[in-house]
Amino acid sequence: MGALDIDLLKGDFPILSRRVHDKRLVFLDSAASSQKPAAVIDSMDRFQRERYANVHRGVYTIAEEATCAFEDARRRVARFVNARSPRELVFTRNATEAVNVVARAWGGANLGEGDVVVLTHMEHHANIVPWQMLAAAAGIEIRWIPLTADRRLDLTDLDRLLDGASLLAVTAMSNVLGTVNPVRPLADAAHAAGARVLVDACQHVPHFATDVQAWDADFMAFSAHKMLGPSGIGALWGREELLEAMPPSWAGAR
Ligand SMILES: Cc1ncc(COP(=O)(O)O)c(C=O)c1O
Repeated sequence: MGALDIDLLKGDFPILSRRVHDKRLVFLDSAASSQKPAAVIDSMDRFQRERYANVHRGVYTIAEEATCAFEDARRRVARFVNARSPRELVFTRNATEAVNVVARAWGGANLGEGDVVVLTHMEHHANIVPWQMLAAAAGIEIRWIPLTADRRLDLTDLDRLLDGASLLAVTAMSNVLGTVNPVRPLADAAHAAGARVLVDACQHVPHFATDVQAWDADFMAFSAHKMLGPSGIGALWGREELLEAMPPSWAGAR
């Protein structure tokens, strides 16, 4: 592979041509939220100008075009993470909402007093607070996988922590430490203990090929705004049978 043509890549991002404090803009905060390339900005603009209508609500031409575009996006995103079917892919507002949907709908239906959810000390608040709320509302117990001195998961006591657990909710890649976690062995250990596995893949999806089947995960949350896409949209991937069995987390219009 040849050297990266940085100027060519930067040319894709209109914002990088502006100056800030009379200096050229250098943007290093993509882990929080990435800038958008012209292809994304143009595509969103084109949709608003040419095809905008309510999705799954009308049978006139542009409503059908909007619905097709929406479903095509669902197919592409599902394929991108190697889902078995687009039916496993639920669009959400962001990754935070995706985790909350699992906590409210799956957790609300399946977890109660004394049931155990295992988290790690490197989770983002999005994968902590929904479980703390469930602990306060339904009396679940939260157990924590600690960290080693070199900021990896300390798996010394993993079997004890997973003993009797209903869910392991773990980040694939830490937003603070950059640590990449061994998701498949963690999922194998969780499944052997009878627990389901939720993966927070917010930081993994922008950096690595992400394969929900290779991970043998049960749920996965991720977000468009950290990987060059628009803000305001994320995704919950889940095994179809688990999604089908979940009660709705919100009521009313889709
Ligand atoms: C690891 C991780 N999980 C979850 C989130 C929350 O993502 P969102 O903004 O899509 O809700 C973030 C955002 O910083 C993150 O880095």
